[in-house]
Amino acid sequence: MATHKLLLLPGDGIGPEVMAEVKKVVGWLDSHGFASFSIEEDLVGGAAYDENGVPISDDAMAKAFDADAILLGAVGGPKWNTVGFDVRPEAGLLRLRKDLQLFANLRPAVCYPALAEASSLKRDLVEGLDVLIVRELTGGVYFGEPKTITDLLDGQKRAVDTQVYESYEIERIARVAFELARTRSNRVVSTEKHNVMKTGVLWKQVVSEVHGSEFSDVQLEHQLADSCGMQLVRNPKQFDVIVTDNLFGDILSDVAAMLTGSLGMLPSASLGSVEEISGRRRALYEPVHGAAPDIAGKGLANPIAMIGSLGMAMRYSFGLGEAADKLDAAIAGVLAQGYRTADIYSDGMTRVGTTGMGDAILAELGKAG
Ligand code: IPM
Ligand code: MN
Repeated sequence: MATHKLLLLPGDGIGPEVMAEVKKVVGWLDSHGFASFSIEEDLVGGAAYDENGVPISDDAMAKAFDADAILLGAVGGPKWNTVGFDVRPEAGLLRLRKDLQLFANLRPAVCYPALAEASSLKRDLVEGLDVLIVRELTGGVYFGEPKTITDLLDGQKRAVDTQVYESYEIERIARVAFELARTRSNRVVSTEKHNVMKTGVLWKQVVSEVHGSEFSDVQLEHQLADSCGMQLVRNPKQFDVIVTDNLFGDILSDVAAMLTGSLGMLPSASLGSVEEISGRRRALYEPVHGAAPDIAGKGLANPIAMIGSLGMAMRYSFGLGEAADKLDAAIAGVLAQGYRTADIYSDGMTRVGTTGMGDAILAELGKAG
């Protein structure tokens, strides 16, 4: 059996707590013959800053380049509010995304039947929801230069961020979205602000061209990003795949996440391109929720998004689709049995903490044989 090199970067806040639950699942898969893993672990974010003065060390980056897949917990927290911009915790995550060229961020928002009540929308709007947000992750305003704050002569300051996209960046993310749509309901909504932004004009044009020349069998619709946000809370089930830029994708994926009941439910995959010779694809998997410093260290965090991220790694990096199905079924199973962490709790359910939820998922995995 192939051994998969996994790098664990727990990070900050609730990151280490939810990662501890993933480690249990990894151990279970290993000992039950589903997969064989070799595990490395390192620091990222504020934890790395405290230790090394940088939010990710060159050593950890080398491990990241060497890994078959990376699992990351979360970065950031108020403790590091005053550190320099270049060494803030988030810069560690952004360096991983940029240096590994993880341009395609897949954020599936799936509403488990057992959780439809936990959503802030009415049950019939979200029950059965299955949207995939494909977010461009290595371009746009996150990385565009100039990115500055300048002192002006009159005591004022001027801040500049730059939204930049080149056509190849839009082409490759559009391809990922269209290809994934073909494995689902075959529909893509592309979203931008072509009524205000030049990058939006180019985005729409390039997506249309890629569609016309390679994917005319897929249904394509363009929506302005503000309208798309509105449609996501008005009638989310109209969507299959949404493809969008880095910043709009950041915002819309938080909205989509909350539709499913809690931010604590959503995994994500950040993928590079497939290397021609090896067929390998660099990949990082992380929950969409952040570091949640307010509940960190209290054993309250929901580990499902983190465990689901391992499931995505099994599916997209390790070719372990069957084991991933089993893990997803175990998650659905414990939810159906009524186990709830605080973020998804409702009356009459069984309240569990982080480890309780992890243990329940392991027990369910065990049952399935
Ligand atoms: C996310 C996060 C990050 C982002 C932060 C932590 C830099 O919000 O992955 O959605 O803005 O991309
Ligand atoms: Mn975000």
